Amino acid sequence: MKAIGVLGVGALTEKVVRGLRRGGFSAPIYLSPRNVERAESLARDYDCDVLADNQAVVDASRILLLGVRPDQLESLAHSVDIGPRHQLVSFISGVSHRELMRLFGTDKTIRSMLSYAAETNSTNVVLNPPSKEITALFDSLGTLVPVEREDQFELATVAACMNGWFYFLLHDLHRWIADKGFDPAQSRQLILGSLSDCIAYARLREDQSFANLGKSIATSGTYTALGLEMLDLHQANAAWSAACEIVLDALLTKTQEGDRK
Ligand SMILES: NC(=O)c1ccc[n+]([C@@H]2O[C@H](COP(=O)([O-])OP(=O)(O)OC[C@H]3O[C@@H](n4cnc5c(N)ncnc54)[C@H](OP(=O)(O)O)[C@@H]3O)[C@@H](O)[C@H]2O)c1
Repeated sequence: MKAIGVLGVGALTEKVVRGLRRGGFSAPIYLSPRNVERAESLARDYDCDVLADNQAVVDASRILLLGVRPDQLESLAHSVDIGPRHQLVSFISGVSHRELMRLFGTDKTIRSMLSYAAETNSTNVVLNPPSKEITALFDSLGTLVPVEREDQFELATVAACMNGWFYFLLHDLHRWIADKGFDPAQSRQLILGSLSDCIAYARLREDQSFANLGKSIATSGTYTALGLEMLDLHQANAAWSAACEIVLDALLTKTQEGDRK
């Protein structure tokens, strides 16, 4: 196993590191020192080393995970000298291979998208392009989704945003039932159970479309159908489509701007 370096120890990359260690990755993990409290706590609990600066991380590692925010990438790129032996794995949304190449001077770049569930080894791990080495590295984090085309990667990023939106839907549903007087802990369990039942059954019935599974429950005269009528009246799902469209649009604009630089 090869040493990996993390450039940008933040909310996402700390979950990735925890998931890698939980999944049995035992080679050295080197962390950039900025955000020192978070880096030191990760180093202490998950057997990593915080190095003196970004270049020290680059020098000690062959695979480099990029975890800064998009507007911090340019300054990160200026702080390091990447060589031909390095493989970059970028978690940064809206930054194309071409822009990574311009900033870091290497075409050994892989884009990846995953969620906080990396920490529990149960995230989708989108990889573009799929590579044997990174597939093997991230295999323990969850379900690998190899994506050959970069434009499809932007769509996968929209799907990753849905993960965040679901929490707000869960929040509103939880608040409604708790406001009606249901014990908050029990109502949380009801909401999560309802969602996980849906996921478990949809996984069991891979042969059925989501629409058909829904229709098999919301049959005429059921309370599910009654509620669905109200959701349709409010065009609830149209709002989700609009959210997807605006995010895709923003991602494509951002990547195209980056490509033109
Ligand atoms: N959070 C998610 O759910 C999620 C999901 C998918 C993809 N992503 C992508 O992951 C990236 C990181 O998101 P995040 O939420 O984890 O952000 P974050 O918590 O802000 O983490 C970024 C980290 O990088 C550090 N940093 C900034 N500039 C640096 C530099 N020059 N050298 C070394 N470290 C530097 C930041 O330090 P400071 O705090 O001092 O600035 C911070 O600790 C984003 O590009 C985002 O598109 C995030």
